[in-house]
Amino acid sequence: MRNRGIAAAAAVFAIALPGAAQAQGPPGQSSTPGAAGVGDPYFPIEGNGGYDVRTYDLTLGYDPASDQLDGLARIKARATQTLGSFHLDLQGLEVHSVTVNDNPAPFTRDGQELIVTPHNRLRDGSTFNVAVDYGGSPQTIVGSPIVFGSPYGFLHTEDGNFIGAEPNAASTWFPGNDHPSDKASYVFRVTVPEGRSVIANGRLVSQETAGGKSTFTWEELDPMATYLATVDTGNWVFKNGTTPGGVPETVAVDPVLLDGQPNAVDFFYDTSAQATDYLATQFGPYPFMSTGAIADNATYQGRALGFSLETQTRPVYSAVRSSTTIAHELAHQWFGDSVSVADWHNIWLNEGFASFAEYLWLAHLGTRTAQQSFDADYARPATSSFWRIVVADPQRDTMFASAVYRRGAMTLQALRTKIGDGPFFEILRTWAAEHRHGNATTEQFIALSERVSGRDLGQFFQTWLYTPQKPTSW
Ligand code: TRP
Ligand code: ZN
Repeated sequence: MRNRGIAAAAAVFAIALPGAAQAQGPPGQSSTPGAAGVGDPYFPIEGNGGYDVRTYDLTLGYDPASDQLDGLARIKARATQTLGSFHLDLQGLEVHSVTVNDNPAPFTRDGQELIVTPHNRLRDGSTFNVAVDYGGSPQTIVGSPIVFGSPYGFLHTEDGNFIGAEPNAASTWFPGNDHPSDKASYVFRVTVPEGRSVIANGRLVSQETAGGKSTFTWEELDPMATYLATVDTGNWVFKNGTTPGGVPETVAVDPVLLDGQPNAVDFFYDTSAQATDYLATQFGPYPFMSTGAIADNATYQGRALGFSLETQTRPVYSAVRSSTTIAHELAHQWFGDSVSVADWHNIWLNEGFASFAEYLWLAHLGTRTAQQSFDADYARPATSSFWRIVVADPQRDTMFASAVYRRGAMTLQALRTKIGDGPFFEILRTWAAEHRHGNATTEQFIALSERVSGRDLGQFFQTWLYTPQKPTSW
């Protein structure tokens, strides 16, 4: 389900230079290799060109005692150019074999690129099936500045594992097209030692135990970006139900967290229900088939992690978190998960919007008004380095800088006060509806804001999103 990328450019290249990259096949059907990336300005080799994934069907075995993952990834995709070869992203792990349309396919590896040469070239527009048999111990990403300097990705916990992969760690646990521009549906069939259980995105399809092992099958059928996939193994206390507003809800909490907070299951359950239903009154219908929370006792080398991520349908939390954090992660279900960034430089469309939802949530609770939240964020002195980040293009290593969150939220509150609540909330709801389950850019948000408000907002957004200084008038 790709909507952007450089596949089109590669196809043009094939027409201009028909002899350039010939593979097998009849004359006149030239094929080119699929590109190693989709052209993301921050992550040039994330994602891959030349195809569009429809579904990931991941059959996984995870053994917490040995930290070993055994995987069979079955990927159904559609070629968007005629392909003599194509790439998948995969970091670490061993690849045992690859088939394409059930034929063994030679492959090579180059860093995080797994390069597959199908026996027959894949025609533009055709659907094909890839199966990758792989395994090993997934590596946590450590020492990277990208996510506040925190370890992220696949975390090995005392009783299992915990996954939070934004922006580029999905490929540490499954091969795929690791970029938000290519959303797909997912099935996770996960086998763990009897006594452990598995929670993932979407809904539980089946659960069975035999021969000392339990298999849990979860599926998320709505389009999902790779980084929003999570499969978490361990001891879990589950609570299932439906929010008062009618959204099915599943919460899973590591019982270790109950030591400090005996009511943690009800706390996550009730707060997630309230936030889901409240945010739907502000942003329009909840975009997915389920809501909830996954709260683990996740640490890295004995150190606590400040981990909360908006994994689709059910955010992950590495400890018990505040209701404001829960509202933030659930707001991402609309802004980030349903409406996803077209590429990572648009990240404020996720973090600024989810942080603005915190303003709304605190006003809803009666803690303080949205304007008071704005004032508190705005109080940072003009000399602070906070104001030097360009929110609409923060650069890779500062893509999660606090300005992306707080100045992003301020931008929306400033827009609200400038144009009024009626047009402002119409913009938010139209944004969520028009790009539902899709991808979007800042330019599209500015265009929508001008269309709905009937105002020229060029200077306003220039000041708030593109000027590395504290705004003083707008
Ligand atoms: N998007 C997260 C938030 O809600 C922050 C984040 C980015 C993150 N990458 C992560 C959290 C990886 C956990 C793991 O603000
Ligand atoms: Zn966020």
